[in-house]
Amino acid sequence: ASCVLAYSGGLDTSVILGWLQDEGYEVHCVYVDLGQPGEDRDAMIEKANNNGAASARILDVQEELCRDYAFPVMQWQAKYEGIYLLGTSIARPLISKAILQVAREVGAVAYAHGATGKGNDQCRFQLAAEALDPDIKIIAPWRMEKFRKLFPGRTEMIEYCESKGIPVKASKAKPYSSDENCLHISYEAGMLEDPAVNGVSIVDFGMGVSPQDAPDTTEEVTIGFESGVPVSVNGKKLSALEVVKTMNDIAGRNGVGRIDIIENRFVGMKSRGVYEAPGMTALYAAHLQMEQLTLDRDLIHLRDRMAPEVAEMVYYGFWFVPKMDALMAFIKEAQKPVTGEVTLGLYKGNIEVHGRTSPNSLYDAEVASMEGGGSYDQTDAEGFLRIQGLPSRVMGKVHPRAY
Ligand code: ARG
Ligand code: SIN
Repeated sequence: ASCVLAYSGGLDTSVILGWLQDEGYEVHCVYVDLGQPGEDRDAMIEKANNNGAASARILDVQEELCRDYAFPVMQWQAKYEGIYLLGTSIARPLISKAILQVAREVGAVAYAHGATGKGNDQCRFQLAAEALDPDIKIIAPWRMEKFRKLFPGRTEMIEYCESKGIPVKASKAKPYSSDENCLHISYEAGMLEDPAVNGVSIVDFGMGVSPQDAPDTTEEVTIGFESGVPVSVNGKKLSALEVVKTMNDIAGRNGVGRIDIIENRFVGMKSRGVYEAPGMTALYAAHLQMEQLTLDRDLIHLRDRMAPEVAEMVYYGFWFVPKMDALMAFIKEAQKPVTGEVTLGLYKGNIEVHGRTSPNSLYDAEVASMEGGGSYDQTDAEGFLRIQGLPSRVMGKVHPRAY
């Protein structure tokens, strides 16, 4: 039988590649490129081929990740538990989709991945895969006792690779685990497991400088939106990926977008995570400003009430489900007027708002002004408040409040 493997070129998936063959599978390796750092891509493919892969390929899905996954989630202003921008979460369904496209092409019956049985990633990979191909068999070796018995630690994995002639880099174990793509880097586990320990003193951040090391001057950046989609930076039209990369540079060099949280995993336990997402943090802020100028009050309030729901679904991995389809249709409709430009001032990790303009601005200076005039007649507020206050007046008579 043949199997597709979500291959990263690292120690774990190299071992899994060998082990799947020991189990009798023909293995097709797929490296889904989300903008992970390092690793010579050609060398990695060669390594998979040398290790007996039936095929090995790279699929670059970065543009799709930004355009069809990260931006709609940003339009929702979705943040898990109030602050996490979901940079790893949102990438997982796309990995599964890309891998299943290969599975269909090569006629694979199984999909193997290297996520542990303790985390969120297994949920996202699997829930997406089962929605797209209900018949696919998921192989998660870390959930299998026989695999864990064979490989109780790094030493056994390295020995296994050596016995098979699989080259392993003598990289010393990092003090934490990280996951990087073009949207963000997450850091967790290892030394970060003690929530009392300062993450900033442990993590070697990869996308930007610390606020202390950022310049002493404010850097202005102007982001252009069309129907809720960021389409330009400082007047220059860019693709979704280019917007994200440009904003990562600009916000990163100003120390923007670092967080440290204790989050609740889908599988139940609390987990400590440190994240950096400079570009997306600035884009969320700019987008919110654009909405404030262009969106109807009740629509924004409704969106705000549903945003935590969307964040939870993305975090858990319920992406390819009808409820999400409907929520995405809602946000697309809601974003239609969100067009214009927002200028932010970035200063040592802070995001200032320097201005916003839109052809669809609902802001009416005449109405809003404290000066007289415009179509707002103060006399109208008299009746408005008599009626709003009616239940309180009745209640106050029947059940007088102490004051
Ligand atoms: N806790 C974050 C999340 O659930 C990050 C997970 C990082 N995954 C990893 N394989 N290092 O989205
Ligand atoms: C993993 O368990 O594979 C990484 C952590 C997570 O998915 O939450």
